[in-house]
Amino acid sequence: MEQLLLCFLLLISCFSHAYCTKEQPYNAIFSFGNSYADTGNYITLVKGVLPYDVFEHLPYGMTYFDQPTGRGCDGRLVVDFIAQNLSLPLVPPYFSKGQDYHKGVNFAVIGSTALSLDYFRKSISEVKSYVPVVINTTKEAAESLLEQGATTIVLPGNLPTGCIPIMLTLYASTNKSDYDHLGCLKHYNTIGYYHNIKLREAVVQLQLKYPKAKIIYADYYMSQ
Ligand SMILES: *[C@@H]1O[C@H](CO)[C@@H](O)[C@H](O)[C@H]1NC(C)=O
Ligand SMILES: *[C@@H]1O[C@H](CO)[C@@H](O)[C@H](O)[C@H]1NC(C)=O
Ligand SMILES: *[C@@H]1O[C@H](CO)[C@@H](O)[C@H](O)[C@H]1NC(C)=O
Repeated sequence: MEQLLLCFLLLISCFSHAYCTKEQPYNAIFSFGNSYADTGNYITLVKGVLPYDVFEHLPYGMTYFDQPTGRGCDGRLVVDFIAQNLSLPLVPPYFSKGQDYHKGVNFAVIGSTALSLDYFRKSISEVKSYVPVVINTTKEAAESLLEQGATTIVLPGNLPTGCIPIMLTLYASTNKSDYDHLGCLKHYNTIGYYHNIKLREAVVQLQLKYPKAKIIYADYYMSQ
């Protein structure tokens, strides 16, 4: 259930108004999250620890960077597209040496979770009851960034994780009623969807509490 219990947060900031203009509304991106946002932290952290790291090998990186970069993707991640669109550098991973963090830094690590790993021993039926705790953790992280002066926060929801190939492989079922009309695992999608409803509620609460900030829910579920 890694995909469900993720804490996933993206922060775009214009801390100093002197450096922000209409054409360049943001001067830095700070990114927090898991494999959806990691631009190279995980591969640095596991170097010499894991005998074989799949993210260091093709097909990772092949469609855009021509080589693996530590992204859990064959090309760019959403955070890369946002950076390029805002004419900012691709957000440098925190754990890579020799990076310039003036225009932001990426703390996302593949496999990161919002809650402790003990939660991963729970069954699918138990997981739903932890969603409010996950939302609370995400909301608290957002609040602490807002208190420190963040001006724009993007909180993306979950993907339909029950459609992801690794989930379909790991949790394959012989019971046809576990699948929807698209061949996705229903339970996993239901929980992701429920998480997103709760996250949207939290976003509304944050918007009311911090009216000067831009707090945005990014719908990764329906955009799939
Ligand atoms: C950024 O995205 C907007 C909206 O899609 C588009 O109008 C603009 O041209 C993009 N800018 C860059 C630099 O890609
Ligand atoms: C969420 O956090 C608030 C205050 O931080 C607390 O009162 C509430 O019980 C928490 N809810 C859950 C489900 O953890
Ligand atoms: C398949 O799943 C449904 C719904 O969860 C259940 O009612 C049914 O008994 C299951 N069938 C088999 C053969 O296990």
